[in-house]
Amino acid sequence: MKKAEVKGSSYPIWHPYTQMYTHEPPIKIVKGDGTTLYTEAGDRFIDAISSWWVNIHGHAHPYVAKKIYEQASSLEHVIFAGFTHDPAQDLCQKLLKILPDNQAYFFFSDNGSTAVEVGLKMAFQYFYNRGEAEKRNKVIAFHDAYHGDTFGAMSVSGRSAFTDPFSKYLFDVEYLPLPLGENKSTCFEQLERLVATQEVAAFIFEPLVQGAGGMNMYAPEDLDRMIAICQSNDVICIADEVMTGFGRTGKYFASLYLENQPDIMCLSKGLTAGFLPMSLTTCTPQIYEAFLSEDKLKTFFHGHSYTANPIACAAAIASYEILTDPAYQNRIQEICDQQAAFKAEMAEHASIKNTRVRGTIVALEFQTGEETGYLNNKRDQIYNFCLERGVLLRPLGNVLYCMPPYCISDEELKKVHDCMRELADQWTAAIFKQTVKS
Ligand SMILES: Cc1ncc(COP(=O)(O)O)c(C=O)c1O
Repeated sequence: MKKAEVKGSSYPIWHPYTQMYTHEPPIKIVKGDGTTLYTEAGDRFIDAISSWWVNIHGHAHPYVAKKIYEQASSLEHVIFAGFTHDPAQDLCQKLLKILPDNQAYFFFSDNGSTAVEVGLKMAFQYFYNRGEAEKRNKVIAFHDAYHGDTFGAMSVSGRSAFTDPFSKYLFDVEYLPLPLGENKSTCFEQLERLVATQEVAAFIFEPLVQGAGGMNMYAPEDLDRMIAICQSNDVICIADEVMTGFGRTGKYFASLYLENQPDIMCLSKGLTAGFLPMSLTTCTPQIYEAFLSEDKLKTFFHGHSYTANPIACAAAIASYEILTDPAYQNRIQEICDQQAAFKAEMAEHASIKNTRVRGTIVALEFQTGEETGYLNNKRDQIYNFCLERGVLLRPLGNVLYCMPPYCISDEELKKVHDCMRELADQWTAAIFKQTVKS
């Protein structure tokens, strides 16, 4: 496909996060199998970012595909108000076994952003139903957070190029720095001061790893302390586990590294193993019970046409069965070890400013000598460098990370690491040289 065709009416598709004017034509994928994507032109790529972090068991996994087919042949969908079905019930019963103990109720929606919208609305209406909405009207979030692209989710995300065009339509949020290095004491002090006003309704966070913000990682004990401060002041803690859920951090959920559990959790991405869009917002009995009333105005008036789609539930159950197999869990731990070893190896590399690892996610932050960030001009160079070596890695500005499906073999993971290392070795040479300060 030529570039001109992408701009013309012969290609009427507007792609996400893509400047359609300058972007190269999209690559057509005709098949996926395990970690491998096959292009129409006959090339292959290892999907080392799990297709925007959704694909946990590999592409076209036969067991998930079979379960989807079986479900689609018996009940494809039914309105979820006034009706229920086994796939939704089975899925929630299963997830209760791996979620933190305090999570007891499940609300279905369609994607990570809507899971966050639901979580925020639950928190706001919790105080409304208790007659405290006037006073509890503040939300705390982290700088550089990313919680999705709908308006509530954008509001609680860090302000950035993503949100600039919409800034006047977003509600105000109190931002804290991640508790890291010299920011740690500022973070705790600001948090203490904010919650002491008794005006804060909710604290929302990506537990342990900020994804789109640059794979920024912080310690469980610091998050634990923040949750304790919030909960002792009746602030609802919302863990956005859209990216970190389902094994990404080495445990089923990042919240399982914590002593203090969130009140609300948002799950999506890995939930259906990357087969179908679906999400869940889970909550404690305390939150749920605040909506139980003879007064109809205390109802949670939220729902989507495809709520709890049975086919998506069947995919999620199949994915759960694969994920919770003990042998599979061992393999995830091996991937965690391999990622940690690679991080250690790269830590002192001259081209690398910072290395980070948490479970199956490893990230290298490259030296640039200039302002970093998502729109950093090295991004396209890095992306193409990796594709040319048969590896799909999609840097966040100058942060290159690997977050593979758990079916990745040792050989494939080595190929991904080799590509990342080669990039680091060439960083100050050739194509990258003109923009890198020595
Ligand atoms: C932590 C987090 N929350 C929410 C979202 C939004 O999810 P979705 O793209 O499915 O709307 C994302 C997406 O990357 C995410 O990483």
